[in-house]
Amino acid sequence: MARGPDFCRSRTRFMKIVMPGGSGQIGALLARHLAKQGYEVVILSRGRACPVGRVVPWDAEHLGDWAVELEGADVVINLAGRSVNCRYSRRNRREILASRINSTRLVGQAIAIAKDPPRLWLQAGTATIYAHRFDAANDEDTGILGGGEPEAPDTWRFSIEVANAWEQACNEAEAPHTRKVILRSAMTMSPDPGGVFAVLLGLVRRGLGGRAGDGRQYVSWIHAFDFIAALEWLMAHRELTGPINISAPNPLPNADFMRVLREAWGRGCGLPASRWMLEAGAFVLRTETELILKSRRVVPGRLLTSGFRFRFPDWAGAAVDLCDRWRNRRSLA
Ligand SMILES: NC(=O)c1ccc[n+]([C@@H]2O[C@H](COP(=O)([O-])OP(=O)(O)OC[C@H]3O[C@@H](n4cnc5c(N)ncnc54)[C@H](OP(=O)(O)O)[C@@H]3O)[C@@H](O)[C@H]2O)c1
Repeated sequence: MARGPDFCRSRTRFMKIVMPGGSGQIGALLARHLAKQGYEVVILSRGRACPVGRVVPWDAEHLGDWAVELEGADVVINLAGRSVNCRYSRRNRREILASRINSTRLVGQAIAIAKDPPRLWLQAGTATIYAHRFDAANDEDTGILGGGEPEAPDTWRFSIEVANAWEQACNEAEAPHTRKVILRSAMTMSPDPGGVFAVLLGLVRRGLGGRAGDGRQYVSWIHAFDFIAALEWLMAHRELTGPINISAPNPLPNADFMRVLREAWGRGCGLPASRWMLEAGAFVLRTETELILKSRRVVPGRLLTSGFRFRFPDWAGAAVDLCDRWRNRRSLA
């Protein structure tokens, strides 16, 4: 990426990047990459140890000494929020919503009081904000925001409420000298343990990787390599502000998505799972079926228009690469 004088504050030092919530899945990917490039990486955490970057404590609720880290920083990437991989009980809903709104407002407050605020604020959001639909893809300009679909379960509507409130918290923050970008991210696929790719591949390896439900629902995804490259692109392109879809340009129906993954792994067939089986499984695993059953047809309109090129635009190439990397990790372990 262009790490030039138009972006970095000084030619004599590398960029300083502060990541609230940077201890999780996405933060680890980013921190590893950015630290390797020589950037100064600071992670704001409520108490987790992180293998990469300097960890500074915060409670994600109150201003504190941590706010000094934003003084003179180049970029803040806010990834904080309670995991959505849980049952949407009342208590969990409260935490999912509050952790995102409060931490986003807090980052906004820290930027507002900084004498030398970061030039750029990359704020996590989600591609789940778009409507459950099959007819056309959602880009940032013509996409339909969700919430009004007549058949949408209450859990899906809750996710859209969260997505909207999260963006609103960022939009309302007073940060006149800081460019704000909201990352409407699709599922990020990396071979790391604990991520969504590991879960999907686990199903395929156990012979369970058939279609989910009727398999018509679209899956939006992005390879971790392109996720990182897209964020670097956003850092370098000062004309880009507001919501940006962070997804590969070719989402595909679930049945095809799973077939391609099976082929990449070298497995001919996989047992399909009906809707009721998925609901029962999600109950036992204490999670929700939304991630699997909602049709997410999201495309990266603004990234493509601005000239960004994907290394993995198609799931077939991405799946082969991810399976190879997964096998390599295992053989090295
Ligand atoms: N992974 C994806 O494919 C994907 C796709 C779309 C959107 N996103 C969004 O992008 C963000 C980062 O994703 P991720 O996969 O890296 O998530 P993650 O692994 O769950 O990490 C999120 C981080 O948020 C912090 N956190 C957890 N509970 C919190 C709470 N109650 N209050 C404040 N902070 C809390 C944690 O840091 P500490 O415990 O260290 O404080 C945690 O490491 C999330 O907000 C997620 O919703 C992710």
